[in-house]
Amino acid sequence: MCGIVGILGARPVAGTLLETLKRLEYRGYDSAGVATLENGQITRRRAAGKLKNLEACLAAEPLFGHLGIGHTRWATHGRPTAINAHPHQNGKVAVVHNGIIENFKTLRDELRAKGHTFASDTDTEVVAHLVDAAMSDGLAPAEAVAATLPRLKGAFALAFLFEGEDDLMIGAREGAPLVVGFGAGDKTGEFYLGSDALALAPLTDALAYLEEGDYVVLTRHGAKFYDTESRPVARKRVKTPASAFLIDRGNYRHFMDKEIHEQPEVIGRVLAHYLDLSAGTVALPFELPVDPARLPRLTIAACGTAYMAGLIASYWFERIAKLPVEIEVASEFRYREAPMQKGGLMLLISQSGETADTLASLRYAKQQGQKILSVVNVATSTMARESDVAALTLAGPEIGVASTKAFTCQLALLACLALAFGRARGTIDAKEEARLVAELMAVPGLMAEVLHREPKIELLARDLGKARDVLYLGRGTSYPLALEGALKLKEISYIHAEGYAAGELKHGPIALVDSDLPVIVLAPRDRVFEKTLSNVQEVAARNGRIILISDSAGANDLGGEAEIIAMPDMAPEFSAIVYALPVQMIAYHTAVFMGKDADQPRNLAKSVTVE
Ligand code: G6P
Repeated sequence: MCGIVGILGARPVAGTLLETLKRLEYRGYDSAGVATLENGQITRRRAAGKLKNLEACLAAEPLFGHLGIGHTRWATHGRPTAINAHPHQNGKVAVVHNGIIENFKTLRDELRAKGHTFASDTDTEVVAHLVDAAMSDGLAPAEAVAATLPRLKGAFALAFLFEGEDDLMIGAREGAPLVVGFGAGDKTGEFYLGSDALALAPLTDALAYLEEGDYVVLTRHGAKFYDTESRPVARKRVKTPASAFLIDRGNYRHFMDKEIHEQPEVIGRVLAHYLDLSAGTVALPFELPVDPARLPRLTIAACGTAYMAGLIASYWFERIAKLPVEIEVASEFRYREAPMQKGGLMLLISQSGETADTLASLRYAKQQGQKILSVVNVATSTMARESDVAALTLAGPEIGVASTKAFTCQLALLACLALAFGRARGTIDAKEEARLVAELMAVPGLMAEVLHREPKIELLARDLGKARDVLYLGRGTSYPLALEGALKLKEISYIHAEGYAAGELKHGPIALVDSDLPVIVLAPRDRVFEKTLSNVQEVAARNGRIILISDSAGANDLGGEAEIIAMPDMAPEFSAIVYALPVQMIAYHTAVFMGKDADQPRNLAKSVTVE
């Protein structure tokens, strides 16, 4: 999703803007631009494609202003061309924007009727026109922004520059994140705006988050925050733990590769946080916002890979805690008008904590009298702040657009929650809790072992890279993992893939099976193992190409008929966390073999702050 940065500094800022934009690349983008204010004039450089194109523009025609804004754009309205790239300018106003102005057509028609002409196809440009028009009517820049914001419907984070104002930058937020950074040391008196703490990490760790509807007026003398009613408000300054080195790729070829390999370690960290490892019990470091023993049902909403984590967890909550679960993709849930019994619990899962649909589901559930538990990776995110309890997935920054370590950390934490609910509801006794905790504690070691399967997976990926379609099958928690496997492969290799419940094979997808269709089967030795193997036989009988991810039992049964990715033997309950690894490595190596950019797949965004 679009990334925003702004610097009000004491030296030329274009180079730093560019460096900061590089730290926002992980969000996904398809064009970029910067503008600085020099001798009172706004000058812009914009380019389609990757930041190296913008870098070339800036090298050919440098900018020297001490005050500037920058943007990476993920196209919503209008193609990813230089003309549509931000900053957009009209008259004295330049603006960068993350989000969608839903009523932009009405506003544009209104402005056109008054004689305005538009240079781009974007929704953003109307904002520059509206603010400039308000200034032409005699308002000061901050008043013009304040007058414009209530006219905008949708989600936005905005940063503005104004011609003739070399000591002024304004930011605003409604539905998309924006943070103010405060310079220190030799940068005292500098101020920054950014989409997230990560972008600003090399510049400062002193931050203040804008609340919904806020705008902030920055001068070299300070930051003044205002709420929706333009009343001055105080916004707390916090120290962020996100440090610059955390997003170094190290010796890895891609962030995704690094993040896949980090998993044994980060999962260990999650388990150490939510379990008492010496007592062998679950030990949540927070009070649950409801009494699980009296809870009639749990509702879960999430998007993308986080939704897959929720689906897997729904099996755990049902089986371990005997708790009925309703789970829905957030983009549907938010509009379903689902009646919710007061006092219920809503669980939201999100790496970024900013996904627009998941956030809207959170707010809907709140209105319906639900307590809110969120499972998020970004501690300072909007969802974390708006929840009764935010349980952190502790994965560290995830830069690859395709989620890997955040997904398995979500799973590890959700497994701990299911155990805590089971204990509180009396559906597992101390012995069963200890058994399940021991199973969880074995997961990091098993994951480390599975990473050694990489050479075999790399070879396999060379074959998969030639396929047109791929089918993933699984039962039980391996079914949502099959969905995740198909999603992962689609996301980064662009090969069409589908995940199916293995039992559904004969209700349709079996018609696709021939010797050209790779069928990847996830078959840990669990209570549906035999059933899954029967489905594999059905594929084999039709000359299907089977790739079986299974342990020694699977290998023994199907050694002759399938290519095997041999997994270590393990207890079945939490096998999905371990089996996630081959699924991720298959997608990664297939994409790399095909020459695709695994970290920044086309069209995708990391943090989806629009509907
Ligand atoms: C995007 C990302 C996915 C992610 C999904 C939900 O589609 O590319 O990797 O799973 O958003 O994001 P969230 O931050 O809410 O987990």
